[in-house]
Amino acid sequence: MVDITVRDEDITSYAGPALVVAVPAGDAALNEAAREVDDRLDGLISTLRAAGDIKGKLGETTVLHTLGKLPAARVIVVGAGDPAKLTAAGVRRMAANAARTARRVGLSSFATTIYRREDLPAATDAQLLTEGTILGLYRFDDYRQSDPETGDVREMAVLPRALDRAAVEEGVRRGREIAAGVTLARDLINEPPNVLTPTELARRAQIMAAEHNISCEVFDRDRMRELGMNAILSVAAGSDEPPAFIILRYGPPKTESREGAPGLCLVGKGITFDSGGISIKPAQDMHRMKGDMGGAAAVIGAMRALAGLGVAGAVTAIVPTTENLLGGRAMTPGDIVKAMNGVSIEIINTDAEGRLVLADALSYAVREGFAPLVDVATLTGAANVALGPFYTAVFATDDGTAASVLDAAHTAGEKMWRMPLDDAFEELIKSDAADIKNSAGRSGGAVTAAMFLRHFVDDKPWAHLDIAPTSWSDKDEGEQTKGGSGAAVRTLVALAEAMAAR
Ligand code: BES
Ligand code: MN
Ligand code: ZN
Repeated sequence: MVDITVRDEDITSYAGPALVVAVPAGDAALNEAAREVDDRLDGLISTLRAAGDIKGKLGETTVLHTLGKLPAARVIVVGAGDPAKLTAAGVRRMAANAARTARRVGLSSFATTIYRREDLPAATDAQLLTEGTILGLYRFDDYRQSDPETGDVREMAVLPRALDRAAVEEGVRRGREIAAGVTLARDLINEPPNVLTPTELARRAQIMAAEHNISCEVFDRDRMRELGMNAILSVAAGSDEPPAFIILRYGPPKTESREGAPGLCLVGKGITFDSGGISIKPAQDMHRMKGDMGGAAAVIGAMRALAGLGVAGAVTAIVPTTENLLGGRAMTPGDIVKAMNGVSIEIINTDAEGRLVLADALSYAVREGFAPLVDVATLTGAANVALGPFYTAVFATDDGTAASVLDAAHTAGEKMWRMPLDDAFEELIKSDAADIKNSAGRSGGAVTAAMFLRHFVDDKPWAHLDIAPTSWSDKDEGEQTKGGSGAAVRTLVALAEAMAAR
């Protein structure tokens, strides 16, 4: 991962390969850093803007050589768009594009000024810059013989200039912890399913926990059987790989919440490969289903980040994990299984397996007294049909819980949209033979999946995040890179922080 340091140097003293400055769109006034560079380069930036060669469009980058007019060899000009409309996500995109441009040019280090937004503290700007840089440079090439691209950016120096250095340091530290959580989630999603089995997912969770002062407990198949977790066990029955039930507990020692109320519980769907089971999926794009543990990755990544940040308050994460395959003992359509909380389920479609593993995990969380409950799952293709590839679908039992999640998503700069949980849908999941059935057909597919889950949360405040649309990215764009996205990590961290501050 790129090393980000704060350095007391200035535009006139930094003598490295490149210096990044931001430039707004149109003829809006240059910020102080860009003006200083422009002066030293005899008005080159102004000339290029006037000629339309630099448009200042958000994320646009232009590489200039300084020809000895500045100690830095190059200036990378990054577009900020309309400064009045620059969002947190926009700042991350600028940072990501500047860093990727530095890599494309073959630089192993560069320095950057901070893209300031007047309404925000310097620490926030430094945090966004750090997140965008680390996430934009993210690559997953553990399995290649050699790097497809030349070299990599190893170091970025942040120049605080007139800003408060301690605030900038703090922002960089926060950005680093959050990006480390997102990076962990991306890595887990991108790992191939022959490596990242349920056992390996549990091992990685244990390694992360040991490094971050989090306790980790893993239930095996026998323990799950004792607890009556028949829904997850029926999914696991089709695979020779053993399932696991992972519990991560984070809480600063001696806090009230650790002793008293168990507090926030995050639940992540951990299907390490979803073939569909007997109701097998088409071959086209089936390899993508290695990412069906995106919810598990999000909650594990979030735990890492919030422990790194030292969030005050207890948070627990639960990950039910198994493969969904079609061995000789696989569950079959028509089966009826009883979940841990006693609700009987008729299996209509073995490809609706996510809600089965979540049924037992939510039942367990309820039994342990956690509240609120937030589950994260790559649950339905229907969420994608409803919202397209940009929004996570949010369902919640009550307006308060919905508002906390949507506020956290807004703080984190992740797009989420509330969907209905309405008793009217209940008839769609009625079974002829059991309490409920696991598949209701195409109509309202994301909603009926959420309605199914509601049968396992008792009367707890609960939110369900269907990240099937957002957990995977098809292209490199801004801070997003092709493959696992780490969606929901930052929202979960923001939610835990907001709850701890309450
Ligand atoms: N893991 C899939 C959902 C999914 C699809 C995630 C595409 C990401 C991309 C889930 O287990 C599934 O197969 N859902 C079915 C439910 C149906 C059988 C009721 C679906 O969405 O088709
Ligand atoms: Mn499935
Ligand atoms: Zn699935």
